[in-house]
Amino acid sequence: DWSMANFIELEMKKIREQVGDKQVLCALSGGVDSSVVAVLIHKAIGDQLTCMFVDHNLNRKGEVEQVMKTFTEDFDMKVIKIDARERFMKKLKGVSDPEKKRKIIGNEFIYVFDEESSKLEGMDFLAQGTLYTDIIESGTSTAQTIKSHHNVGGLPQDMKFELIEPLKTLFKDEVRALGLELGLPEEVVWRQPFPGPGLGIRVLGEVTEDKLEIVRDADYILREEIKKAGLDRDIWQYFCVLPDIRSVGVMGDARTYDYSIGIRAVTSIDGMTSDWARIPWDVLEKISVRIVNEVKHVNRVLYDITSKPPATIEWE
Ligand code: XMP
Repeated sequence: DWSMANFIELEMKKIREQVGDKQVLCALSGGVDSSVVAVLIHKAIGDQLTCMFVDHNLNRKGEVEQVMKTFTEDFDMKVIKIDARERFMKKLKGVSDPEKKRKIIGNEFIYVFDEESSKLEGMDFLAQGTLYTDIIESGTSTAQTIKSHHNVGGLPQDMKFELIEPLKTLFKDEVRALGLELGLPEEVVWRQPFPGPGLGIRVLGEVTEDKLEIVRDADYILREEIKKAGLDRDIWQYFCVLPDIRSVGVMGDARTYDYSIGIRAVTSIDGMTSDWARIPWDVLEKISVRIVNEVKHVNRVLYDITSKPPATIEWE
């Protein structure tokens, strides 16, 4: 008889049998799947698990700190944080093509992970948050071919590790239920989808430190206000993008020539198609006022009212 508690017991037993007294490595991304895998494996084998979190400088505001706190403090797990911010920024310098940016970010992630993991002695296993849907969709998903979805969690299969994939029989809603049962916080379990290349594809065109800061701060305000309005569970994804344009505005009696922020918020079942979210106007107004007041170099806020198709959810 299937229950979440039974599933956990059974999987813990399987993991212990598979691993024995060996060591497991897990790449944490902050996403639901890798978080649940890490906590489940940690529950089974404790400190035989080492997690690695690569900071590529493309995360949302506060996210790196939140991941580190959750896993090292709340769950008392071994997490190695790799500061690869400079490395990624160097590689992205001068690059504005979206697909090139995706490739660079995906590849750089693999190089960093490869380098750093080979510094660790005696890692035999690699834990991955592969879901049932990842298995049935691989190769056939059209979304994969429209944009090359280099997921930061996706690692090459020719590494020297043996794989552990305890979620591979589960659907997303079951993974969320499992996460809650394992004591993961709601923010992690209900985290909205976040693309592997992160803010690298939400700063349109060339990615610079200054632009990342603008989009990060605007996005933080959007997330705060959506949460305050109690809309965070109804909207599939909501985020800010920074288009590569500037326009004229006025502040006090001075003319400004600054960036615009685009707000993207969509409802969807699976991300394959989507409709733009009807956020109430007064909520949008609050967001807009806060963004232009609080984020330097922004004098205009745009709301994306296109569905997918013909637009995509991300702007790149
Ligand atoms: P689009 O923009 O294609 O997005 O309508 C559909 C869903 O996929 C996410 N997305 C990505 N996820 N790597 C990822 O891991 C990517 O390169 C990528 N591009 C888009 C997007 O956030 C949405 O949930």
